[in-house]
Amino acid sequence: MPLFSGFITCFVLIVTCIHLAGRIDRAIQIRRFKQRHGCLPPPRQCHKDPVLGLDGLQSIFKVFREYRFLPWAQSKYCSLGNTFQTSILLSTDICTIEPENVKTVLAVKFKDFDLGEKRRQALHPFLGDGIFTSDGPQWEHSRTLLRPSFVRTQIVATNMHERHIQKMIEMIPRDGSTVDLQELFFKLTLDTSTEFLFGESVDCLSQSTAASANFAYHFNQAQDISSVRMILGPFAPLAMTSKSRESVRKAREFVDGFVKKAIDYRKTVDSEKGTDEPANASTRYVFLHELAKQTSNTTELTDAILNILLAGRDTTASLLSMVFYVLARRPDVWNTLRGEVSTLDGQCPSFEQLKQMKYLSWVINETLRLYPVVPTNGRTANADTFLPLGGGPDGKSPVFVAKGQRVNYDVYVMHRRHDIYGPDAEEFRPERWETIRPGWGFLPFNGGPRICLGQQFALTEASYTIVRILQAFKGITSRDSEPWQETLALTLASRHGTKVVMEPV
Ligand code: HEM
Ligand SMILES: *[C@@H]1O[C@H](CO)[C@@H](O)[C@H](O)[C@H]1NC(C)=O
Ligand SMILES: *[C@@H]1O[C@H](CO)[C@@H](O)[C@H](O)[C@H]1NC(C)=O
Ligand SMILES: *[C@@H]1O[C@H](CO)[C@@H](O)[C@H](O)[C@H]1NC(C)=O
Repeated sequence: MPLFSGFITCFVLIVTCIHLAGRIDRAIQIRRFKQRHGCLPPPRQCHKDPVLGLDGLQSIFKVFREYRFLPWAQSKYCSLGNTFQTSILLSTDICTIEPENVKTVLAVKFKDFDLGEKRRQALHPFLGDGIFTSDGPQWEHSRTLLRPSFVRTQIVATNMHERHIQKMIEMIPRDGSTVDLQELFFKLTLDTSTEFLFGESVDCLSQSTAASANFAYHFNQAQDISSVRMILGPFAPLAMTSKSRESVRKAREFVDGFVKKAIDYRKTVDSEKGTDEPANASTRYVFLHELAKQTSNTTELTDAILNILLAGRDTTASLLSMVFYVLARRPDVWNTLRGEVSTLDGQCPSFEQLKQMKYLSWVINETLRLYPVVPTNGRTANADTFLPLGGGPDGKSPVFVAKGQRVNYDVYVMHRRHDIYGPDAEEFRPERWETIRPGWGFLPFNGGPRICLGQQFALTEASYTIVRILQAFKGITSRDSEPWQETLALTLASRHGTKVVMEPV
């Protein structure tokens, strides 16, 4: 017996020692790393519960429910500085609005950071192994697959949009009754993106077929569930009910149908011509047909299309909704913009003409500054690394980031920094873009290797839509007395929509 218990004690001791030695070794390794790079700790947010950070989690849920997560985040930076650390559920996150740090995470040390498991877990059931859910070689593969199809799309976009925009304009009442433009914009962008991707629109602005109305419904459901899963983090599986599984399945089935058609189309074209270009030069551009040139794996194509649909639909709708939200409150901006648009004499603008509309681009940038569509984001370190700024009492020293640690960056707050945009940073003033060049301090489309692939496409679609609406209406009045509040899902939207009255020309 004594021999046996002695053996156990000995064993436990050895295991403890190995464990401790590992911990000590790791601590020494971290200390050396910090010394080598001159890292100092950033300010730490005070917690009542410093171990689990449960109070922090509680306040996040509270401000989230009260639709003021973003102003709350802003006030935290205001009291703690541009870079700080905060405890959430046993882990310590770094939060930053320092352009140099954001640039480091997204570009300079791109290879040291991943999206993080949370996002992958939340989105994987719906989006599969697409560009939004993958890192490393798999992401590179997705990006390589998609990029060529984007290069050729930009100019074609405008003609295709016209039909849908006219339909939307028809839906805007002309008798002085109130309309929520945000609702219409979300339908518009679903119509345009499905046309662009499949070559056939779900036409939810007009009477669509039962199949496509169903798709619109299930796609929205699947997307809502994905954003809930994102918020729940480790508790994400709780949000997966049989109803939501059904929506995911139905949405994917609908896309599968188009994918199969596209593969058949490719086969016919290839066998007829023996080359990869369709015989008919006037053939309409269909994104899925372009993609199918590169792979005939249906799972891969369906994943790719769903990822693009998610990336391109709400984002552009959100930008448009916010532009008109502002216009309804700023007759001066509305009038200046109408002045610029009037140079077109009511004609449809070409891609080149849109690019030359200076004031329009200022309005769009100023909207993306104050209401960035992706207002908060983050990455997880996959190796020990460091950020250039934020450490020490003066915040000028580098900050250590341990492998597995999360770095959050809040674009919404960064876009309102007075030292970047001036003391009137909270004001909507398009003219500031005449002189300002904020570099990494302005980041609506992200930066570095993972910069938004659809930036040009989105800016063209948004500009074109704004111009066409301004050509059809001479006045806009807000019908919403509430202050602005956020709706934060995968993207930002206005909680009270964009309720306005439009006055036709
Ligand atoms: C105003 C409109 C848009 C905004 C503000 C916007 C913004 C962004 C942002 C911030 C990201 C980075 C997300 C991250 O890595 O965490 C992103 C990525 C992406 N966007 Fe956009 N986007 C817009 C429209 C579009 C459109 C219309 C498309 C496609 C038709 C698109 C396709 C993509 C894709 C494929 C990615 C993933 C890139 C990658 O991870 O390599 N976006 N976008
Ligand atoms: C090209 O398109 C036109 C109109 O869409 C069609 O009438 C014609 O048959 C097509 N030609 C070929 C070779 O596909
Ligand atoms: C199709 O792609 C998926 C992932 O995108 C992969 O798991 C599967 O093995 C591929 N199938 C074929 C037949 O290559
Ligand atoms: C708007 O912002 C983009 C960066 O997203 C920048 O390249 C462009 O120059 C800005 N436009 C103007 C008019 O300053």
